[in-house]
Amino acid sequence: MAEHESLEFGKADFVLLDNVSLEEFMANLKLRFEKGRIYTYIGEVVVSVNPYRAMNIYGRDTIEQYKGRELYERPPHLFAIADAAYKAMKRRNKDTCIVISGESGAGKTEASKYIMQYIAAITNPGQRAEVERVKNMLLKSNCVLEAFGNAKTNRNDNSSRFGKYMDINFDFKGDPIGGHINNYLLEKSRVIFQQEGERSFHSFYQLVKGGPEALLRSLHVSKDPTTYNYIRVGGQVKSSINDTADFKAVADAMKVIGFTAEEIQTVYKILASILHLGNLRFGVDGDTTLIENPKVVEVIGGLLATKEESVEKALLYRTVATGRDVIDKQHTAQEASYGRDALAKAMYERMFCWIVGRINDVIEVKNYDARVHGKNTVIGVLDIYGFEIFQNNSFEQFCINYCNEKLQQLFIQLVLTQEQEEYQREGIPWKHIDYFNNQIIVDLVELQHKGIFSVLDEACMNVGKVTDVVFLQGLNNKLAKHAHYTSRKLAPADKSLEFDRDFRVRHYAGDVVYSVVGFIDKNKDTLFQDFKRLLYNSSNPVLKVMWPEGKLSITEVTKRPLTAATLFKNSMISLVENLTCKEPYYVRCVKPNEVKSPLLFEQERCRHQVEYLGLLENVRVRRAGFANRQEFPRFLQRYKMISEFTWPNHDLRSDKEAVQMLLKSCGFEHDVAYGKTKVFIRTPRTLFSLEEQRTEMVGRIVLFLQKVWRGTIARMRYRCMRAALVILRAYRRYKVKSYIKDVNRKFKNVRSMKDRGRSVKWPTPPKVLRRFEEALRSIHNRWWAWTLIKDLTPEAKLQIKAKVAALEALKGLRPDLGLQRSWEGNYLKRDSPDKASSFTLVSSDLQRKDKFMRVLFACNVRKINRFHKAEDRAIFITDRHLYKMDPSKQYKPMKNVPLYNVTGVSVSPGKDQLVVFHTKDSRDLVVCLQGMMPPGDSRIGELVGTLLSHFKSEKRKLQVNVASPIQCSMNGRKCTVVVETKINQSQPDFTKSLSGYILSVPGN
Ligand SMILES: Nc1ncnc2c1ncn2[C@@H]1O[C@H](COP(=O)(O)OP(=O)(O)OP(=O)(O)O)[C@@H](O)[C@H]1O
Ligand SMILES: [Mg+2]
Repeated sequence: MAEHESLEFGKADFVLLDNVSLEEFMANLKLRFEKGRIYTYIGEVVVSVNPYRAMNIYGRDTIEQYKGRELYERPPHLFAIADAAYKAMKRRNKDTCIVISGESGAGKTEASKYIMQYIAAITNPGQRAEVERVKNMLLKSNCVLEAFGNAKTNRNDNSSRFGKYMDINFDFKGDPIGGHINNYLLEKSRVIFQQEGERSFHSFYQLVKGGPEALLRSLHVSKDPTTYNYIRVGGQVKSSINDTADFKAVADAMKVIGFTAEEIQTVYKILASILHLGNLRFGVDGDTTLIENPKVVEVIGGLLATKEESVEKALLYRTVATGRDVIDKQHTAQEASYGRDALAKAMYERMFCWIVGRINDVIEVKNYDARVHGKNTVIGVLDIYGFEIFQNNSFEQFCINYCNEKLQQLFIQLVLTQEQEEYQREGIPWKHIDYFNNQIIVDLVELQHKGIFSVLDEACMNVGKVTDVVFLQGLNNKLAKHAHYTSRKLAPADKSLEFDRDFRVRHYAGDVVYSVVGFIDKNKDTLFQDFKRLLYNSSNPVLKVMWPEGKLSITEVTKRPLTAATLFKNSMISLVENLTCKEPYYVRCVKPNEVKSPLLFEQERCRHQVEYLGLLENVRVRRAGFANRQEFPRFLQRYKMISEFTWPNHDLRSDKEAVQMLLKSCGFEHDVAYGKTKVFIRTPRTLFSLEEQRTEMVGRIVLFLQKVWRGTIARMRYRCMRAALVILRAYRRYKVKSYIKDVNRKFKNVRSMKDRGRSVKWPTPPKVLRRFEEALRSIHNRWWAWTLIKDLTPEAKLQIKAKVAALEALKGLRPDLGLQRSWEGNYLKRDSPDKASSFTLVSSDLQRKDKFMRVLFACNVRKINRFHKAEDRAIFITDRHLYKMDPSKQYKPMKNVPLYNVTGVSVSPGKDQLVVFHTKDSRDLVVCLQGMMPPGDSRIGELVGTLLSHFKSEKRKLQVNVASPIQCSMNGRKCTVVVETKINQSQPDFTKSLSGYILSVPGN
């Protein structure tokens, strides 16, 4: 029930009337119309009154107000119903349809356009190009179809002269992806004849008045519609229609839809041909029928791309096959005129159907795969010609009004009958509401054997002279007792009916007098085969496809085609079947006056419409009834999450009890009734409130599911990780174990190997065991070293200690430490064998005198003294003293220094053999070892290592410096010794320099 409107505008929903009476209903309708409120609800039905003026209620801002809203949230509007249909389609996957009914001029076509605009505006938020294209096509198709299928009548300046049902297809996202148009019986008699004050189809006037000069010239068409017999009447009618602007709009729309230039040209050619056909005059000359203005035939031949003679022949003769013979039978002038008119009508009708077909080709859903795209749902929009009564009502009006009867019947069936029957069936206390059921009129028209269509078909099937009068007699015979049928014969006193011409049907919407003139012809709808062949043989391919049956040869026997009435009846039955299987939404249009005035609310007219549309009954059923019903399991399925009693599953005895519990817990008990299988909800508000709660809960459920699922995923991931870790650990253990096994295997026998496993390659350890491997290697090395030294002689041990000491002190600081060779210590005997005996004497002498135990080192040297004098000497180092000897005097000792006076030694980083002994009393001894055998022997390493090792064994410190220049002190005087390489130097020698001495060594 609509809100948000103050009461000055009346009640927005007729259900809210204080008393459901016709007076109150009318008063409310009038009040709202006068206040500019043209829409009012009856529950979910929209009642619309034609405002006959532009209303500012269809703009973008209004669309926004209705988008996604529930019906009751906004004032009544077409947009609300369109949104409801759209939501039902989207939410529940239901096909829906919007049925727009009302008499001619009540505003159906306008309503259908606004509905489509609304749907186009609210869909495709993603602006997908393909969807935009489809929407554009759907909207543009209206313009084209109205040009060719609408005309000005005395009731409506833009009256639909065909029925239109359009399906819009939606994908799973709710975006339009295509559509399909079904068209119903075009009132083609309008092509050749219009009543006073009416026009033919807009297309003719658009061409004549709006076509560009060059086009009209090529079509041989003049700009004056009154020069053409077929459209002359309409040509004189004054109206506000702007044909020139419309011509352009239609041409553009056709282009946008995808009509080719050739197709558009052919359409113009057909329109022009029809105009020319209407101007043909037939005459007689003796026995021959002839065309009085053959020039026109030439023009038509040109336009239709056929030979002029063929056109003429088809117009004047009829080819008849009698057995195997084929003869040409000449028409009388009257027959020729009849044939010409039939051709004009047929050409227009075929062209119209072809246009609809072409539009369908373009908008039809392509490449749709339900498995990929989800269910393809549709919203159908039905806009059909409204109930109409003219001065002269013929076969077309009869069909149109029958169509409206069918739709009224559908409304009654769905809204009034089925609903009430359902309440009874479900055992809901119900007081029957009476209404007029127009089924009786529908039967009057369509019943087999007895209905008017049957009588008409029978009359047409009769052999011999069949006239409209015979048909009327048939009606009178069969329907004499029918309450809704009468004629002059049955009611002789009724002067409004012409004898042998009129019959009257009491329609649901009023009495209509039909003239039978033309019924037979229009029902038979004969078009001579010759014309079909003529147009099939046109060299214009577009025209040719409109006439496929022209392919049949003359002698081929064709089945008798179904009559126009039967075709129409069948199409109506299938339309109703189609609508019945969809969820219907209704727009009931009311026409406020006959004069298209925005101000006038003709009480009587409107009351009449309200009555025949059954709106009051609609209100009564609605008020007493329920807005919605659902079977218990379905209801539960949808709403069970909003109550703790039903979520996730109830434990009550039946679904019905569960539904009762649910609704009670929500506090809706007062607004519902429980049937046998269904729950009935009285007001939409309750339903919307349920929907709202559901939407809220769905959010939470989704969140819950996400939570659980995320948890599951996290746990799964955790388990994987843990498993990976176990595998990792096992693998690591395996790697470590296999490494250790490998080491074990490789080194198992090293003890017995000759090289004690020196050649055994260490296996590469896993990364984690790098440090372990280092430790292992060092343990192994130590063991290995131990195995090497454990069997050595004391001398060899001393030597190794000295070597280790040299290594520790000099490694990396000097080249060639002489580690590879055996360290002999005393080299004097080897280097100077000739003087060996004198040295032995001196040595034994010294041993005796100084009581040394061991000779550490002895070698010839070149020395420099503090008087800058360089001389050859020898040094002899024992475990007690350092002796300086003169080799030229049988190694006479020159000087001795007790070893405890020696504090350190300095050597250079080069290859030279310079060594400076530092003493406590600052009388440093600067020497360079020389006279080595073999020459080039490097003995500095040995000298330093031996001294160090000895000092260490005596627990004394010896300072070892590796430097260049070397700092020394000669009797307390500080000086430096620098080593220089000289090319032509044969022996190392000292010279004086500014700051001390230079040791020049040979540079090879
Ligand atoms: N909502 C509206 N706003 C403004 N004018 C409207 C509206 N509805 C209808 N009209 C006016 O009424 C005229 C007739 O409306 P429309 O053509 O929709 O009638 P119809 O019910 O389709 O009639 P028919 O059965 O003859 O086709 C429109 O041309 C327009 O001038
Ligand atoms: Mg219409």
